[in-house]
Amino acid sequence: MKFASLSVALTALPLISASPTYPQGGQHAQRNKYPGLDVLAKRAGLLYFGTAIDNVVLNNTAYVAIAHNRSEFGQVTPSNGQKWMYTEPQRNVFNYTMADEIVKPAIKALQMRRCHTFLWHNQLPDWLTAKNYTKPELISILENHIKHEARYFYDTCYAWDVVNEAFNDDGTLRESLWLTTIGPSYIELAFKFARKYVSPRTRLYYNDYGIERVNNKSLALQKLVKDYVKRDVPIDGVGLQAHFTIGRAPSYNDTRGALNLFTKLGLETALTELDVRVDLPDSEAKQATQAAVYAASVKACVDEKSCVGVTVWDFWDPVSWVPSTFPGYGNACLWDEKLQRKPAYYAISDMLRDE
Ligand SMILES: *[C@@H]1O[C@H](CO)[C@@H](O)[C@H](O)[C@H]1NC(C)=O
Ligand SMILES: *[C@@H]1O[C@H](CO)[C@@H](O)[C@H](O)[C@H]1NC(C)=O
Ligand SMILES: *[C@@H]1O[C@H](CO)[C@@H](O)[C@H](O)[C@H]1NC(C)=O
Ligand SMILES: *[C@@H]1O[C@H](CO)[C@@H](O)[C@H](O)[C@H]1NC(C)=O
Ligand SMILES: *[C@@H]1O[C@H](CO)[C@@H](O)[C@H](O)[C@H]1NC(C)=O
Ligand SMILES: *[C@@H]1O[C@H](CO)[C@@H](O)[C@H](O)[C@H]1NC(C)=O
Repeated sequence: MKFASLSVALTALPLISASPTYPQGGQHAQRNKYPGLDVLAKRAGLLYFGTAIDNVVLNNTAYVAIAHNRSEFGQVTPSNGQKWMYTEPQRNVFNYTMADEIVKPAIKALQMRRCHTFLWHNQLPDWLTAKNYTKPELISILENHIKHEARYFYDTCYAWDVVNEAFNDDGTLRESLWLTTIGPSYIELAFKFARKYVSPRTRLYYNDYGIERVNNKSLALQKLVKDYVKRDVPIDGVGLQAHFTIGRAPSYNDTRGALNLFTKLGLETALTELDVRVDLPDSEAKQATQAAVYAASVKACVDEKSCVGVTVWDFWDPVSWVPSTFPGYGNACLWDEKLQRKPAYYAISDMLRDE
């Protein structure tokens, strides 16, 4: 097992112990009899294979059956429901309805939860962005927000993405109301507040995109994290979002190298938002390329000692964030519009069974 050292802390979490049986032979005709991705991922040494789920699709029973099938997904992440604009829509008025719609069925299904996210520059409520607060006031707003959300979900989350996307691609810190008003220390303040109010067992993550290679951004983050480790700022993990595009996705080696930046610091890592978008129209060749990118990415996590698991940023093409965010791109997920598994699904399954 890769994570013997974590086992003490994890025994108290509602993890499932998989006891699957291997299918006999490797014929494609038998593929649908193979265990789901989470069962295979656990067998390959990961803690989970997970998915993000959004609220808009919860009226679709066929989708929900897969989302909460713990053979496929051992962990779920609310795509939106725990973001600031939904959890504190008015100052000091908290609403966990959207988050609970995802978290509660996950608890019932014995799936782990990654929680997302305490601090981001996007999807903030109007009351927070429409006014300039003083530094002490904004710090107290931040602490109050984290305090309420952390206490509410106290130990229901395996991990929290404490700070999301604080860096620019060149490795400088992103302009945001947090940076402008509080200064660079807002990041460590968020981690300190999270540690103060959430369960001691919950892993605290920094989460970002574009850090799946050794580049200016991932090196700048490594420098920050190294300083935090030295000064005992409470951080446990780094999440590499892994939003990829066929034709220019990081290779297995790229992703391993990026994960290793943080392995070396003694942190755990994860791929937290994996998807692989395709320039439309799609084709068989593009799906094959996509499948190879998915499999290489998951394999990089399996092979890297610190990497605990992979989360896909939804599993169904029609509800992916990609088409609306990147016009001309789509089909980024593992299940197609007819809710059938795609070549990318089988590529991951085959790779995990070979581990
Ligand atoms: C859950 O997924 C596994 C793996 O694909 C499948 O064998 C099983 O039938 C599914 N369970 C339900 C209740 O659909
Ligand atoms: C679920 O609701 C959305 C609108 O929010 C609608 O477009 C979709 O057709 C509904 N799906 C089902 C299966 O009822
Ligand atoms: C909480 O959020 C839900 C989902 O957005 C909404 O339907 C509900 O009205 C909100 N509750 C309150 C008290 O505002
Ligand atoms: C906040 O301050 C900036 C200058 O620092 C100013 O440009 C902006 O208009 C102010 N916003 C509000 C809502 O007062
Ligand atoms: C990376 O940082 C170096 C300086 O540290 C700079 O010369 C280079 O242009 C940067 N590259 C990118 C792609 O921003
Ligand atoms: C693999 O990645 C490392 C950086 O992490 C780089 O130094 C090395 O050249 C790469 N090897 C190949 C074969 O691409």
